[in-house]
Amino acid sequence: MEITLWGVRGSMASTALDTSFYGGNTACIELCSNAGTRVFFDAGTGLREAGNLLPDSGECYLFITHAHVDHIIGLWFFKPLHSPRWTTHLYLPDWLSYLPDYFFAGGVFPVAFDTLKGSIIQHRIRANEEVCIGADKMRVTAVPTCHPDGCLGYRVDVDAARFFYSGDHEIMANEASRAAAAEMLRDTDIAVVDATYDHNDYKEGWGHSAWEDWVAVSCGTGARNLILTHHEVGRSDQELDRVAQELHVSAIPDGPGVYLARENMHFSPDGPIPSAHLESDWMLRFLDELSQYKDESVTLDRILAMARTITNADAGTIFLVDNDELVFAYTHNDSLFSVSDAHKSAYSTSRLPITEESIAGYVACTGEALNLDDVRKLPPDAPYRFNDEFDKKTGYRTKSMLSVPFLDLEGRISGVLQVINRLTLGAPRQTAPFTLNMVYTVRLLAREAGGVVMHNALYRKNVYNILKMARVHDPSETGPHAERVGAVAAELYQRWVGKSGLPPEKIRYEKSRIRLAAMLHDVGKVGISDLILKKPGKLTDEEFAVMCRHTEIGASILAGDTSDISRLAHDIALHHHQQWDGRGYPAIDGKTLAGEDIPLGARLVAIADVFDALVSTRHYKKPWRMEDALEFIEKKAGEHFDPHLAACMRELADMLHLIYQRFPDL
Ligand code: C2E
Ligand code: SIN
Ligand code: SIN
Ligand code: FE
Ligand code: FE
Repeated sequence: MEITLWGVRGSMASTALDTSFYGGNTACIELCSNAGTRVFFDAGTGLREAGNLLPDSGECYLFITHAHVDHIIGLWFFKPLHSPRWTTHLYLPDWLSYLPDYFFAGGVFPVAFDTLKGSIIQHRIRANEEVCIGADKMRVTAVPTCHPDGCLGYRVDVDAARFFYSGDHEIMANEASRAAAAEMLRDTDIAVVDATYDHNDYKEGWGHSAWEDWVAVSCGTGARNLILTHHEVGRSDQELDRVAQELHVSAIPDGPGVYLARENMHFSPDGPIPSAHLESDWMLRFLDELSQYKDESVTLDRILAMARTITNADAGTIFLVDNDELVFAYTHNDSLFSVSDAHKSAYSTSRLPITEESIAGYVACTGEALNLDDVRKLPPDAPYRFNDEFDKKTGYRTKSMLSVPFLDLEGRISGVLQVINRLTLGAPRQTAPFTLNMVYTVRLLAREAGGVVMHNALYRKNVYNILKMARVHDPSETGPHAERVGAVAAELYQRWVGKSGLPPEKIRYEKSRIRLAAMLHDVGKVGISDLILKKPGKLTDEEFAVMCRHTEIGASILAGDTSDISRLAHDIALHHHQQWDGRGYPAIDGKTLAGEDIPLGARLVAIADVFDALVSTRHYKKPWRMEDALEFIEKKAGEHFDPHLAACMRELADMLHLIYQRFPDL
């Protein structure tokens, strides 16, 4: 189930400048079930916009809580009531039979209800009655609430989740009302409730509640997300923001997540869903999260995921500028492959020239954002053309496409962020153009995230510089070898930990550290004489003993710096030749490590490093076939290698091929 808040203001609409942040439209909430049953609760002014964004035809349900004007005025301009291609099931509390004829014509509106073009099926609903609607047999129960002239709240059970909407409701009218309110919240995943007031301006007997009372009542009810709405008409954004801060401070540990309703907010039973229309809610938090990842592929994955979430886009690609070409740096496509397979695209080798002839190239050349409603209907004089090769190859159908430039901290264009096929909410999902609001928000996201991407690039450059130092010594080995060992260790980590139930943010964080730290495993080779390092044949025992010192030398190079990644890099450099059964080197205070005492990073790199040495050409050996190298890893599981990690290596076979294509030996 997904909830959208179309109107959150109480009593009457308020379109003042200082109410535009939380929104000025009156009560309207949409619920869309997973199967696509679409239900609106209340017909405040928010209903008009909700109706405008609906597809051309369809069926919907509309439940009215009571007839105070701020809850019904949107009926006048609700598209489905005027469209012959729409069917609306209108549920009115049973005492409101007079309403349609009175509210259309009857001296308040020029058009009579029975002349409306939409197909409208009227139902009356009584207090405590339960109705079953839609193909998924959604259960809607009317719950009487305490309000002058009467009011029905609604409880919905669908998709194994529970929703409750109070309509207008004074919970502190009496003890019975307070107890009833707690019952209304019981086990709800999402509850949207009337919190017009706070304790300072509470007006007894007006039929509304103060937010403090809802927070108190919600305790111990098992409610998961409590959304406070029907904001007092005179309440400014600043005043509501202060309430939001108080909510934050007064949060109760086992209580629900409490949110002040903002127009256009979306919720799932797991909480708020970020949206382009609400940038301030998520942008800061997202950038905070992003700045902890050091590896570019993890960062790009997150940026693309966020750009798609806030635009509800089915697919997307990030291109990065590399000399005079654009590299396909990251791709998501929900229709073609799962997000868990998307990290393969980090090793893509596809490229596009930076010319105005392609859409992404045009954006990279000009720095302009391009918002195309349909890539197959481009203006005839546009310099760019849509390249439909990908669609032809995969059967995918690209339609709407928004492409914005990625800027680095110095304002240079460093890439292009492209989101494809915005989908409408509910079912069936249709492709829609991206809104102007989305254009601005995605540009802002790309601009802010571009700084993080540049920061990652600087970090990576540091790693390269350290490697280059080692490469002066042995140019054939260290560069692509380091890249491959980093990538294989990181992907092996993800494959292994994916089964552990660790939270995804933690996995992303670890993965991004491992990739960079693993690249530095052999920096200690800088301290080994060329005579040994480049010896064509087998090493003597003495020579090998010298060679073994590259672990300690590497560790001492990386020891000084206490940053997170350097510490991990230190452990990896020192222990990557330790073996699971306690053999290997170096011995520290006369002892080698064994089993899980060997740091995880070093156990991962032991596998990635040997695998890479086997399939590569060395001064002292010929390359092995990948299959033989995989067999070798399996054979040595539990002996040289951590058996749990070694068991995941074969599952990585597809990925290994991509990584070896992406980073071939020079
Ligand atoms: P490296 O070339 O990066 O190899 C890393 C590890 O891969 C080796 O660690 C070893 O465990 C495994 N490995 C590499 N080639 C083979 C192989 O042909 N067969 C098998 N079964 N395993 C292999 P190790 O042995 O501790 O060696 C560390 C480093 O010492 C190697 O790094 C390489 O730079 C050097 N090295 C080792 N043996 C020789 C050699 O015979 N001649 C020369 N010139 N260098 C060697
Ligand atoms: C309403 O009940 O929603 C409108 C009148 C009021 O604010 O009391
Ligand atoms: C592509 O997907 O081939 C690039 C699309 C574009 O022209 O930007
Ligand atoms: Fe090594
Ligand atoms: Fe190595």
